[in-house]
Amino acid sequence: MATTEKRSAMQTALYPLDWLEERSGLVGGVRYFLFRKVPGDTGWWHTLGSATLTAFLVQLVTGVILAFYYKPDVDTAHASVEHITNDVWGGWLLRGMHRWGASVFIILLFLHMGRVFLFGAYKYPRELNWIVGVLLLATALFEGLTGYLLPFDETAYWATVVAININGTAPFVGPYLATILRGGAEIGPDTLARFYSLHMLLVPGALIGLIGLHLYLVVRLGVSSPPWSRAAADREPEPKPPPTRSGMVTPAPRPTGVRRRPSE
Ligand code: HEM
Repeated sequence: MATTEKRSAMQTALYPLDWLEERSGLVGGVRYFLFRKVPGDTGWWHTLGSATLTAFLVQLVTGVILAFYYKPDVDTAHASVEHITNDVWGGWLLRGMHRWGASVFIILLFLHMGRVFLFGAYKYPRELNWIVGVLLLATALFEGLTGYLLPFDETAYWATVVAININGTAPFVGPYLATILRGGAEIGPDTLARFYSLHMLLVPGALIGLIGLHLYLVVRLGVSSPPWSRAAADREPEPKPPPTRSGMVTPAPRPTGVRRRPSE
């Protein structure tokens, strides 16, 4: 009786998921993504991609909440950031997470890329995913650049002057690039509006699209084994070393071929 009740309670609780699965196949897709098989000899190094993804999601959530309070105008931008830090409940933490989280995201991105490079995981058939990764890296750095101007203090202003001037030195396209970034001849209200729009809409949208493509390729191609993998090289696994002092510390049968004394 109790089992029947339990089963019907489970069915009721899972009904929304069943409903969704029947009409979209989404639940099965998520389950496949989460429980798909990966090589048995993957280790901590393989978690850097997911760590980068987590850092990106933290940036998304904290950024959306910051946007509730931030005012993208040269006269009010800095005051609105001060207001978030000093007056809004938990605002100092939110802003700190977003500001420091940006560095964490970029550091993890480089560590993940370093892992992929050193493990040779960019080789056939994963070259396209490496190319998507390079686009991700450039887009993520641009996200950092556009966000840096938003507090609109001295550091933000002069850092942006330097960054735009560096872009302006690029051959042929440099001067055009600098004008496009500034939104005119000088850094001012148009630059802030432009950077805000890029930072909030265009660049995160591009990042989400690229990450989606990147993860699709990861699932499609499967995760690679580390270079030292014996399984990937079709070799027998390393034999386990014999237990030390067998029969005393770890009880184990005596090795065969050992002659016993006549008295035994
Ligand atoms: C927002 C940035 C990124 C996110 C969220 C991300 C996420 C991931 C995840 C979750 C994996 C699977 C697990 C793992 O191998 O760690 C992966 C694999 C991979 N990533 Fe990234 N990644 C990013 C940036 C990059 C960059 C910058 C590159 C290289 C330029 C790159 C190249 C690759 C390659 C080639 C693989 C396949 C590795 C293998 O199969 O062993 N990724 N990525």
